[in-house]
Amino acid sequence: MSLLESPAPPRNSPETEKQDLRRYWDTHPISTDSVPYEVGSRESFEAIYEKWKQTIDQMRLDFLESCRGRKVLEVGCGIGKDARFLTENGIDYTGLDYSFRTLGLAHRHFDFAGLRKRFVTGDAVALPFADNTFGLAMSIGVIHHIVGTPEACRELVRVTAPGGIVRVMFYNRESYHYLLVNWIVRPLIWLMLHVRPLEAFLRWAPEKFRHLYAISKQHGLSRERLLATSADTSFAGQDNFIPRSGFWTEREMRELFSGMQDFCFIRRDLKYFPFSFLRGWVEPRWGFFLTMTARKPAASSRTRAAAAATASH
Ligand SMILES: C[S@@+](CC[C@H](N)C(=O)[O-])C[C@H]1O[C@@H](n2cnc3c(N)ncnc32)[C@H](O)[C@@H]1O
Repeated sequence: MSLLESPAPPRNSPETEKQDLRRYWDTHPISTDSVPYEVGSRESFEAIYEKWKQTIDQMRLDFLESCRGRKVLEVGCGIGKDARFLTENGIDYTGLDYSFRTLGLAHRHFDFAGLRKRFVTGDAVALPFADNTFGLAMSIGVIHHIVGTPEACRELVRVTAPGGIVRVMFYNRESYHYLLVNWIVRPLIWLMLHVRPLEAFLRWAPEKFRHLYAISKQHGLSRERLLATSADTSFAGQDNFIPRSGFWTEREMRELFSGMQDFCFIRRDLKYFPFSFLRGWVEPRWGFFLTMTARKPAASSRTRAAAAATASH
């Protein structure tokens, strides 16, 4: 614990924390607050998808190409934005999520869009699929929020066929975002909590900062909570914040996926960065979203021979 913190919030048991996380996602299905329409309405899905399509760039198009001819699994599919993009482009796609409400919305989304769907309820740490089922397994912005990130990584690798691809996005600890929240926002909040007249400055602060302040005032200033809440792309508010977020480095991700090969890392997203002329240089180095792509080694001829021998007995 540092000088800037109140005692760390007591950790609940993993089971209770899991239930809290499911409750969070059931009450706050991803993206649904980003548009001004009733949750689950056709207008809402269309507006969310239109907004999401604005983010299609060369990286996404290259990714789409890498999905061609492969069975694709997405773990933590949310309401089905990537799902729709991939399905509309003819990819053999399966989406999994453990929030029943979110998955219900994904079904509805696909019904409105008139698309064939394959959605499964399940937990990232125990995927309901046999080994080597998919040619590509992806999980974007999901398994750093869960209890059991290493298990979830192992599961992604397990269900990917030899020669197949795993793609995950985690929050980057070596990022401008982490630096900003940990070394600027956190001390500022600490100061405001201890010198109350400074609260007057809140009216000029960005909305996100006001949320972070309100949460810290009500629940105590914890680095972990502040970082988790700062990364929450939506809904954050006084009584309402994502319970857990992990921040990882490239080196740690390589360890989580040890045994994989052909690693490629891309860093993107640079919110609240004041020097626009430096963005192009800073973002690929210290961007917040750290996306890893890696390949599961193809089975060696010796492994294939052993498998064939086992199968013929
Ligand atoms: C931040 S959202 C990301 C959704 C989607 N990948 C996207 O980019 O919009 C996280 C999603 O993961 C799901 N999720 C959280 N924990 C999970 C778990 N243990 N197993 C499967 N899905 C989980 C949540 O229900 C939520 O829909």
